[in-house]
Amino acid sequence: MNLICPVCSGMLTAEEKRYVCPGGHSFDRAKSGYVNLLQRQKHRQRGDDAEMGKARREFLNAGYYQPLLDHLAELATENHLECIADIGCGEGWYACRLLELLRQRGIHAALTGIDISPEILRYAAARANQQNLRADTHWAVASVNHIPLADASCDGIVNLFAPCEPAEFRRILKPGGTLLRAIPLERHLWEMKELIYDEPYENRPVRSAPEGFELTQLRTIEYRMTVPAEHLQALFAMTPYAHKTAPENAARLVQIQSLTTTVSFGLLLCTVQK
Ligand SMILES: C[S@@+](CC[C@H](N)C(=O)[O-])C[C@H]1O[C@@H](n2cnc3c(N)ncnc32)[C@H](O)[C@@H]1O
Ligand SMILES: [Zn+2]
Repeated sequence: MNLICPVCSGMLTAEEKRYVCPGGHSFDRAKSGYVNLLQRQKHRQRGDDAEMGKARREFLNAGYYQPLLDHLAELATENHLECIADIGCGEGWYACRLLELLRQRGIHAALTGIDISPEILRYAAARANQQNLRADTHWAVASVNHIPLADASCDGIVNLFAPCEPAEFRRILKPGGTLLRAIPLERHLWEMKELIYDEPYENRPVRSAPEGFELTQLRTIEYRMTVPAEHLQALFAMTPYAHKTAPENAARLVQIQSLTTTVSFGLLLCTVQK
């Protein structure tokens, strides 16, 4: 376990109902098992809200993004990631499934999920319990700007569609450690945008490695998926467009039976620059 105290940076020990450091700072564990290690912030950052989390849960559980998970598991296996941090882990679908896939390949990995949103992290911890992963996972509410993990303690960081803080990532990675970062590419969900916007625009992905990292591999994962009406609202609600689209445009999605749209992800494998 590589969680550290957000007050004094001492190593935390996990107990049934709390995490405690040698300096006596103690942090209660919620019933589901997650812990809130978020310190008071100068500028309050907000993560995703419960509604967005619910939509993502429904959509991810249906398996539409399984191909991305498969690539992630392949790269995690090739790079022997046994001690993993998932930063901006959301409700833990990728994290928990990744651990299961690694187990099937004989790798018994441990993972700490970090997210700034307690409402969402609660589900990640509950999911880990359901999947019998409680002993191998820890879940902490914290910011990407101040990650409560010890220096040089992780083999790998998973950072999927979530904020990236290169200096913190470099600090927590062991020498030779790996960063796996997923980003949406130009035409991700293009047909959905064509439907809801009169003038759809392409995403502007940054394909280069974050500062201080080298890009070792870039995989493009591209396919088409057909989403029936029952999952279309969930797909829309988990995108950044949900908050930016006029109600009359969003209503166009309600009127169709299903939508076939492009999925286009970049998966960057990066290592710390020597
Ligand atoms: C688009 S979601 C991706 C979640 C998950 N990685 C996935 O792909 O399903 C982005 C996540 O980053 C979290 N987040 C946003 N700002 C953050 C910050 N400053 N520190 C930590 N997490 C943050 C949000 O709460 C949200 O769960
Ligand atoms: Zn302490």
